[in-house]
Amino acid sequence: MLTRYAVILAAGQGTRMKSKLYKVLHPVCGKPMVEHVVDQVSKLQIKDVVAVIGHGSEKVKQQLGSKIGYAYQAEQLGTAHAVIQTKELLENKEGVTLVICGDTPLIKSETIESLFKHHETTSAKATILTAVAQDPSGYGRIIRSGAGDVEKIVEHKDATNQEKAIKEINTGTYCFDNVSLFQALNQVSNENAQGEYYLPDVIEILKKQGEVISAFQTGDFEETLGVNDRVALAEAERIMKHRINEMHMRNGVSIIDPSNTYIEAGVMIKEDTVILPGTFLSGQTIIDSDCIIGPNTEIKNCTVGKNTIIKQSVAHDSKIGSEVNIGPFAHIRPQSNIDDEVKIGNFVELKKADFGKGSKASHLSYIGDAKVGSDVNIGCGTITVNYDGKNKFLTTIEDGAFVGCNSNLIAPVTIGLGAYVAAGSTITEDVPASALSIARARQVNKENYVNNLQNNQK
Ligand code: UD1
Ligand code: CA
Repeated sequence: MLTRYAVILAAGQGTRMKSKLYKVLHPVCGKPMVEHVVDQVSKLQIKDVVAVIGHGSEKVKQQLGSKIGYAYQAEQLGTAHAVIQTKELLENKEGVTLVICGDTPLIKSETIESLFKHHETTSAKATILTAVAQDPSGYGRIIRSGAGDVEKIVEHKDATNQEKAIKEINTGTYCFDNVSLFQALNQVSNENAQGEYYLPDVIEILKKQGEVISAFQTGDFEETLGVNDRVALAEAERIMKHRINEMHMRNGVSIIDPSNTYIEAGVMIKEDTVILPGTFLSGQTIIDSDCIIGPNTEIKNCTVGKNTIIKQSVAHDSKIGSEVNIGPFAHIRPQSNIDDEVKIGNFVELKKADFGKGSKASHLSYIGDAKVGSDVNIGCGTITVNYDGKNKFLTTIEDGAFVGCNSNLIAPVTIGLGAYVAAGSTITEDVPASALSIARARQVNKENYVNNLQNNQK
């Protein structure tokens, strides 16, 4: 096998996105477009992978990290000009160079590998990955001779009406003989409708030198979709979402309504978990087996143990154990740590709260900045009063404690091991282990008060 190199074009601003965010950083199913491309390319045996960066280069670098190399394109003068920026790293190397765009997030490693193989088995100096598009507008068109050989690529904006009718498009992915590529790049001019140095012009230059140009047509246009605007971005999202959902279903996850289930690329789910409609799973979320998630649930950056049920709820940046029951309508805010067999019921909000094994907050509570032990029962309407307007304080509720309904626990405060708090208490001081604390005004019944009041008014 010849030595392989790869150049990923990712320097453009993406004017057509009309966005502050650089085009290749726009996410598709939670992962920046260019990272999808890098991940697919990284699955193959390639010696050096170089991304050409320019607009937002620091951010792109930060996102992609040091697993690849970088070349900087200060001014975006076109795709050929972008490849020229890798000269110092690649120019004289013998081998095959893949050039791929950072805005084609759906391309699969299998297709790139087939392109390499096709290139290597022909004696071509360049092989273009092409596809047939129902609506080819915006793409470069593949111009073939009568005999079927590729002659050149014409950009949409430079095409005649006759050329515009051609449906075979340039996907923006190519293999080149590396040395020939850099020689031809020197001859590319910018005399065209956009005043840019077009990489596709390399094809016509090599052809005119008598070199063999090959095309490898993929049957799947969807995979080669180039994202230039938000309409194409939504289309890419739809296709990628479908692909991700299908992968999970093949791995043994039930998805009741895949068209209504949104799972980002980084999420892991184990078998026999059921995902109900309207569910969004994002970030670094890991869901173990036999869970029921949804409907209408949002989980971001959480780990969820086995056999847990989360319905109609939101959970972020937290750890949730096994056999836990959450919702409906619960809100698990960041840094919560929920142990096994816990119940968090309707209208309960947690923030930075630890919940020990088997503890329950079944209804209408706010538990923030709290350490709750195991087998604690938190009655309906209990609130940890954690904030004095300036600082936040910790509430500790030790194992086996029972907090009566509608209690305020004014932090910092500790409810001791197995202690009881009477319903309606406002607790301002620590409650010793095994004590009963009542902190409310004693009830006074004024006999006949109402009758007396009415008699006085006559
Ligand atoms: C390009 C191809 C077109 C092909 C289409 C496939 C050219 C001239 N045209 O068109 O034939 O059908 O892709 O999607 O190549 N970039 C840079 N530096 C630059 C210019 C672009 O790094 O100076 C990067 C962009 O960030 C982008 C990629 O190259 O990731 C493609 O550029 P874009 O402007 O989107 O090209 P298209 O018009 O889509
Ligand atoms: Ca493009």
